[in-house]
Amino acid sequence: MKIFSTPTTLLLALFMSVALIGCGGESTETADVPAPAMEEPEAEAVVIEANDQLQFNVTEFTVDAGEEVTLTLKNVGSLPKETFGHNLVILNAGVDVVAFATDAMTQTDNEYLPMDMSQTFAHTSLLGPGEEDTITFMAPSVPGRYEFLCTFPGHYGTMRGVMIVEEDMDM
Ligand code: CO
Repeated sequence: MKIFSTPTTLLLALFMSVALIGCGGESTETADVPAPAMEEPEAEAVVIEANDQLQFNVTEFTVDAGEEVTLTLKNVGSLPKETFGHNLVILNAGVDVVAFATDAMTQTDNEYLPMDMSQTFAHTSLLGPGEEDTITFMAPSVPGRYEFLCTFPGHYGTMRGVMIVEEDMDM
């Protein structure tokens, strides 16, 4: 049995298959409806890398006020902790980063953290190459901008960023 007897029939058949494929694509898209509303995750997970180029790969992240946050800092560099360690210190809103860093960098015996930690909101430990530290904290209840930095001497110029706390619309 000959299915396509003439070139015209063949073209028509081709046209129809293309049309069918087109329809198929569309129906796949329309079938891809938004998933039913899921419960808002309770915790926010943030992973930030610190490297040998004096950089955090994340310089801004957003959390909801009052939510639980898990923050992991990974030192992906290879330089020694003693000469090129990294930490991540989140300051309270409105704290002067330069003044804080200037004080912190003198605290050689305290992993470059000031003795008075009242200006800080949360911090990781000081990490050497390949090390990581995970901290968990409740995000501030007051929305705003909370700056973070690495307090290792000379790093805060480029190793800094901001945690943006937004009002939790679910509350
Ligand atoms: Co650093």
